[in-house]
Amino acid sequence: MAPVDVPVALLGYGTVGAAVNRFLHENADNIERATGHRLRVVRALVRDLKKERDFPAAPGVLTTDFAAIADDPEIALVAEVMGGIDPTHDYILRLLRDSKPVVTANKQLLAQRGADLFAAAQEGGVQLRFEASVCAAIPVIKVLREALVVTNVHRILGIVNGTTNYILTQMELGAEYGEALAEAKRQGYAEMDPTEDVSGADAAAKMAILATVAFGSRVTLDDVNFEGVERITSAHVNAARQMDMVVRLVGRATLVEGGYDVRVSPALVDCAHPLAGVEGAFNAIMLQGDAIREITLEGPGAGGIETASAVIADMVSIIGTKGTGFLHDDACWRTVDRLPAGELRSPFYLQIAVDDRPGVLARVAERLAAHEISVARLVQFQTGGGAILHVISHEATYGAVDEALAEISGLPESREIAVAFPVISQRGISELGWA
Ligand code: NAP
Ligand code: HSE
Repeated sequence: MAPVDVPVALLGYGTVGAAVNRFLHENADNIERATGHRLRVVRALVRDLKKERDFPAAPGVLTTDFAAIADDPEIALVAEVMGGIDPTHDYILRLLRDSKPVVTANKQLLAQRGADLFAAAQEGGVQLRFEASVCAAIPVIKVLREALVVTNVHRILGIVNGTTNYILTQMELGAEYGEALAEAKRQGYAEMDPTEDVSGADAAAKMAILATVAFGSRVTLDDVNFEGVERITSAHVNAARQMDMVVRLVGRATLVEGGYDVRVSPALVDCAHPLAGVEGAFNAIMLQGDAIREITLEGPGAGGIETASAVIADMVSIIGTKGTGFLHDDACWRTVDRLPAGELRSPFYLQIAVDDRPGVLARVAERLAAHEISVARLVQFQTGGGAILHVISHEATYGAVDEALAEISGLPESREIAVAFPVISQRGISELGWA
C-alpha cells in the first residue's frame, strides 16, 4: 500500500528542531513500516534564516513568518520546539483553535499556561501532546497516561534535569561547577537560558507536569517549592562522599490525604539507592502506586536527538489515534489542595560551621531539640579554629528544619549560614553510617 504523506511543520529549528528533521529523514523507512505514514518537514519557523544549522533544512523550508505555517491548510500537525512563553503561547493557541494538532517540548509553557492550552485543544477538537517536555527520551507521560491510567500513583521521586545531573556528576570527578556547566551547554543539554536549569526551575516545571498527570489535579510552577544547584560546592560533594552518599537534584511529588506537595532541591542520596547511580545527563523517575508498588524509568533526559525521539513518537501517536476519542487532554479531573509548605517530613543532612569552643555543640543541640529534630548521626571536623558539624537527623518536617537552621545561623558562634538537604535512602536512616 502506498504510504500516507504527512506534511508537518516545526516551530523552532535549533538543537531539538534540527534533530527532529534529521531523525525523520534518517528513519523515514522505519517510521513508514511501523505506521504507514511518511512524515515530512515542510516548514520550520526560526528567527535567523542565515544561521548555520546542524542538519540543514531543504531550500524553502525555513521561514521567519508564522503565518506561513498557521495559514497553510496542507500542514497536518505542528511540533513546537522553540521554547519560551511569548510569543509561543499565542502561536500554539492559534494553531489549536484552528484545529491543528500540536506536539510540544516546552515544559515552562505547560507548567505555567497549561490550562489555557488544553482548553484551546478541546475547543479545536485536536490533541496537544507533551512527552518531550519531561525527561526527553524517557516515555514517562505515556506510562502515566496509558499504562498506569487505573493506578493510583501517589509518589514520584526523580532526577528530571540532565544539565544539573551532568554538572553534579562531573563535580564528583573533580570538575569545577563553571567548567561542567559550560560543557553541558556545549552538549546541547542546557536551556537557552541555563539559569532555568541551575535554579531548579526546569526541574520544577517538569515535576508540576508529572504531578498534574499523576494526581489528576492542576499543579503549576507556582505550586512547586524549588531550589537548584547554585549553592552546591565541591565541599558538599566531598562531604557526601565521606558519608557514602552523592548529591543529586531531586524532584518529589507526594499525594497524601488532604493534599499534595511538590518540590525540587539538592538531596543527599544514599549510594545504595537507585537514584545514586544516575549519572551524566541521564534522568530517572520512580513512580510509586497502590497496585504497582514501584516502577523506575531511566534514560537520556536531555539532548537533541533524545528529545526528537519523544517529539516524533508523539507525532505518530497523534496520527494513529486521531478521531478515536483516545485520551489527549491533560487529565485534570479534580482539585487537590496543596499541603502547607513546611509539613512534609524527611530525614535531613545538616552542615553547620561553628566556633570550636565549650558549650557550642550543646547550644546547637538545644535548637534542634526545640524543633523536635532528633540526631541520628553526628561527625565533627576541625577547620582552623572552627568546626564543621555534619548532622544526619531522623525524620523531621521541612518547616522545623528551616526554623532550626535560621536560629542556629543566628547564634554568635555560627560561622556561616547552615545548610540542610533532605536525605534519600531506602535503608532506613538508623542504618546509615559513615563509610
Ligand atoms: P534552541 O537550540 O535554542 O532552539 C530554539 C529554536 O527556536 C531556534 O531555531 C530559534 O531560532 C527558534 N526560535 C526561538 N524563539 C523564536 C521566535 N520568537 N521566533 C521564531 N523562532 C524562534 O532550543 P532547544 O534546545 O532546541 O529547545 C527547544 C525546546 O525544547 C525548549 O522548549 C526546550 O525546553 C525543549 N527541550 C529541550 C531539550 C534539550 O535537551 N535541548 C530537551 C527537552 C526539551 P534561531 O535558530 O533562528 O535562533
Ligand atoms: N535543559 C533540560 C535538561 C533539557 O537539562 O534536562 C531537557 O528537558
